[in-house]
Amino acid sequence: MVIFKTARPLTAFLADARAASGPIGFVPTMGALHEGHLSLIRQSKAATGLTVCSIFVNPTQFNNADDLKHYPVTIESDIEMLIGAGCDVLFLPPVAEVYPAGHEKLRYDLGALEAVLEGAYRPGHFQGVCEVVDRLLEIVEPDHLFMGQKDFQQCLVIGRLLDLTNRAGRTALHVEPTLREKDGLAMSSRNRRLTPADRAKAIRMSQVLVGIRDRFASTPPRTLEQTAITELTEAGFKVDYVSISNRHTLLPLEPGDPAAVALVAASLGPVRLIDNLVLDSSAPTAG
Ligand code: PAF
Repeated sequence: MVIFKTARPLTAFLADARAASGPIGFVPTMGALHEGHLSLIRQSKAATGLTVCSIFVNPTQFNNADDLKHYPVTIESDIEMLIGAGCDVLFLPPVAEVYPAGHEKLRYDLGALEAVLEGAYRPGHFQGVCEVVDRLLEIVEPDHLFMGQKDFQQCLVIGRLLDLTNRAGRTALHVEPTLREKDGLAMSSRNRRLTPADRAKAIRMSQVLVGIRDRFASTPPRTLEQTAITELTEAGFKVDYVSISNRHTLLPLEPGDPAAVALVAASLGPVRLIDNLVLDSSAPTAG
């Protein structure tokens, strides 16, 4: 695996590699890698000629300074894992390389997507995500972009970013299913910050989502949301939201709309977790 810390040599390397190896796949990450990330790398390897991963803890997407300070950094083991998964290129830039002096801060028109759920609880978060992904796409120019469904709203936002930046025809977005631990907990870099006691409680999140799915056909969405909030609160979570939404707009699901996804965000101590489950069996992934 070749490691680049600066943008220009990477872009030049990839221009040559594209001609020699074929389409380029890209997996942007903030490190603290787990099997979920590695499965994206494997998907990219299966579908493209060359796979690039980036590790960059993007300061502009953290609306909470404490969250940024405690974000896990495990570069050495990340590199080992990427080599093990057969990743071809790692982009590991410092902040000044991603946001050089004079970098123009754009405002991305994300519409209602930015106002709901994560957008409401993390003001500015999706502008920061768009800022960094826009810049990374400019550097890597991938043909295929791989992201995990666990960040369901982020996947919709990135779809919109590709449209806004006229990249939709050049870069195909692949949203891959969430990988879960044996007990159902969605894999996340944040899980490693859970205490053993909170890790034991955390399994309730996926169980509550499965409960919603099981009762979805027979119970009104708002009743399911209220029940789930009660269940999570009783399990020890501080709940931000449980929402049964239209899976394209993320607006509250209207009665009879089958395009449904259940999304949840809740904290155990200082660790905020999110998860989701698509309720519409004809659509296993986001989008
Ligand atoms: O999902 C993440 O890890 C980040 O939001 C991303 C897409 C790498 C942008 O920093």
